[in-house]
Amino acid sequence: MRALVVYESLWGNTEKVARAIGAGLAVNADVDVLDSDAAPLSVEGYDLLVVGGPTHAFSMTRAATRAEAVKSHAAPHEPDRGIREWLNHLERPSTEIPAVVFDTRVDKPRLPGSAAKAAKHELRSLGFDTSIKQRTFRVHGYEGPLLDGELERATAWTGDVLARLGAGL
Ligand SMILES: Cc1cc2nc3c(=O)[nH]c(=O)nc-3n(C[C@H](O)[C@H](O)[C@H](O)COP(=O)(O)O)c2cc1C
Repeated sequence: MRALVVYESLWGNTEKVARAIGAGLAVNADVDVLDSDAAPLSVEGYDLLVVGGPTHAFSMTRAATRAEAVKSHAAPHEPDRGIREWLNHLERPSTEIPAVVFDTRVDKPRLPGSAAKAAKHELRSLGFDTSIKQRTFRVHGYEGPLLDGELERATAWTGDVLARLGAGL
């Protein structure tokens, strides 16, 4: 099995989750973990796509929220192309492969909106199988770090995803 993990990250929290997921998948798959600036626009040859990004303004980031993160909150990295723009350019898969999504959000469970849900909607429209439920991983404040135990949750989730795939979803 070949898996592609695509992430976007300004402070590195989402990247850490993406890499933990990649390491978990590597037990059963050849895995490429790439940021949304470097990710290919076709998933041809892959059997699983994982997409993750930070929630900004209740959804996936936009150029304006990324610029605000750098200008007003001193984010160390500003992606040129976030997962929103990457998904806008992603080719429809030739077969209905599974796509699994996750996001990172501040540790305020009552705050509405999720980058993962927005990404899932786009992936479904593109023809991916999005039947596996998305996950949210929490960070302290805008810059992180991740809450204790979130990387372990990511690894455990990867085991669940592999089990679902092994069982034919
Ligand atoms: C401009 C901006 C808007 C944000 N809006 C939200 C939001 O609506 N909900 C939320 O839970 N977190 C919000 N956050 C916090 C981000 O989700 C947090 O910075 C991100 O999870 C950190 O991940 P990263 O290190 O991978 O960038 C926002 C952050 C910024 C910079």
